[in-house]
Amino acid sequence: MKRIGVLTSGGDAPGMNAAIRSVTRMAIYKGLDVIGFRRGFEGLLDGDVAPLTVSSVGGIIHRGGTILRTARSERFMRPEGVREGVRRLKEYDIDALVVIGGEGSLHGAYDLHELGYPVIGVPATIDNDMAGTDCTIGFDTACNTALYCIQKLRDTASSHERLFLVEVMGRHAGFLALEAAVSAGAEYVLLPERQFDLQDLCKKLEYAHKRGKNHSLIVVAEGVMSAGELAAQLKETSGFDARIVVLGHIQRGGSPSSFDAILASRLGGGAVEALLRGESGVMVGRIAGKIITHPIQFSWENKKDLDEDMMQLVDILGI
Ligand code: F6P
Repeated sequence: MKRIGVLTSGGDAPGMNAAIRSVTRMAIYKGLDVIGFRRGFEGLLDGDVAPLTVSSVGGIIHRGGTILRTARSERFMRPEGVREGVRRLKEYDIDALVVIGGEGSLHGAYDLHELGYPVIGVPATIDNDMAGTDCTIGFDTACNTALYCIQKLRDTASSHERLFLVEVMGRHAGFLALEAAVSAGAEYVLLPERQFDLQDLCKKLEYAHKRGKNHSLIVVAEGVMSAGELAAQLKETSGFDARIVVLGHIQRGGSPSSFDAILASRLGGGAVEALLRGESGVMVGRIAGKIITHPIQFSWENKKDLDEDMMQLVDILGI
């Protein structure tokens, strides 16, 4: 193996740059050349290349976003797109590819592997919805961003005696919503994994009101419903007036936390080491502190469950 490629794909996540830096520097340390592709699989198909060197990945470990930029590629979802990807990789004499991204991106990596092309996946998404790793790159920073925002809202909620509904990202998974709710001391959390009971929420708010609590914070994962819709339902059912805040893409940006910068550094380097051991069609992950590999499809064939104790904790503590 002489030359490897690397790309970031799907939604950006804090720590992607730290992962690019780690892939690049580990590969160069091991005697390999590194070529980056801009805009994920789109850039691979267009031949949008960026040779990476020790210096070109300098000064990026602390930066949010991705210097390679990213995209969700429709073209690469089709078999002819994947075949064209392999042709491009061969055209640039690239012997293996490291794909940094979420589940959709790792599907693209798997498709390349299915055509016999050597590939390694590095899990990076703020959603944390991938099995095979305790945490995905970007999740910890996104949790901290959500916490930071909710703590500010709490000041206003208590000063003005208001009910705030905070919508966080997570179409299919409630990891971010749950961590945000526990760490911010929210009264209630709506998770895609759990049936939402409007009556239960209203009872809880009424009880809190009776015991003299005049402000509340509720976290809602976007996959359950929008904060606006929840506000309308609360108004109609019990007359509660709520203010809504949608955190949106704020959660995807910013410098990675220490945890994410370290995770990205370990997984990026681990991906190169796995390639050099002759592994392909695998994803790297960190389980109980150890860097391990699983077949890529492990990340979607297995379900990563929300922590039951954490869910209970919101119910118990948010009285
Ligand atoms: O997968 C990451 C994520 O941020 C989800 O939490 C969110 O639902 C989605 O991406 C938003 O995607 P886009 O930025 O393409 O609107």
